[in-house]
Amino acid sequence: MKDRIIIALDTQDKNELNTLLDNLNEATYFKVGMEAFYTFGVDLLKELKKREKKIFLDLKLHDIPNTVAKSLKSLCQHDIDMINIHATGGMEMMKKARSIVPHHIKLIAVTALTSHSQRDLKNDFGINTELPKIVDTLAALTKDAGVDGVVCSAHEVGNIKELCGNDFITVTPGIRLAGDDQQDQKRVMTPKDAFKAGSDYLVMGRSITQAQNPNETFIKMLGEL
Ligand code: C5P
Repeated sequence: MKDRIIIALDTQDKNELNTLLDNLNEATYFKVGMEAFYTFGVDLLKELKKREKKIFLDLKLHDIPNTVAKSLKSLCQHDIDMINIHATGGMEMMKKARSIVPHHIKLIAVTALTSHSQRDLKNDFGINTELPKIVDTLAALTKDAGVDGVVCSAHEVGNIKELCGNDFITVTPGIRLAGDDQQDQKRVMTPKDAFKAGSDYLVMGRSITQAQNPNETFIKMLGEL
């Protein structure tokens, strides 16, 4: 179970990072996003592997097919376990990405950013299609491109599994322990409910990393699952 909980290392502060890694020895899977990767680079990936942790490299690549493919080729030379791209890069880009990423590394696509509201789509992009419909369309495109799964809200998992099959992986951020502050997340779910909804992997940031003792909070949460 704990291999399915990915802790987000969202920091630029070396001391904070080291304190967190030293404390969180129960956690086995970590997410390195843009903030940490652009600060610490490949050294952070090496450090995590030295500690025998799994790595989700969350850089959300989005560019023309050739550029994404070449970037993935370079990134996949590191010892990582999961990486992602934007589904809005389209079919050709995703197929090309699939052909580059070795199958032992899970390739995941972001459908719609959770920070985009229906109003943003209309006002910023002139798109009138309902957001859930866009998520479904992009999830189906991702599946057709042979990509392993999507990042989505735990609230969307049921629908996506129905559409793309149970083996299609769902990685769900927006997880909060019962009673925690939602902060900037729009729709949240508890770890227990997210697993019940069918999430394959949970991404957890502040509920664990900002706890007084992240490791104890993590262990307590595992006990409640
Ligand atoms: O602190 P919190 O649990 O909200 O962190 C969630 C993590 O998941 C952050 O690293 C955030 O960038 C990431 N994420 C997200 N929503 C998405 C994609 C990624 O919250 N749709």
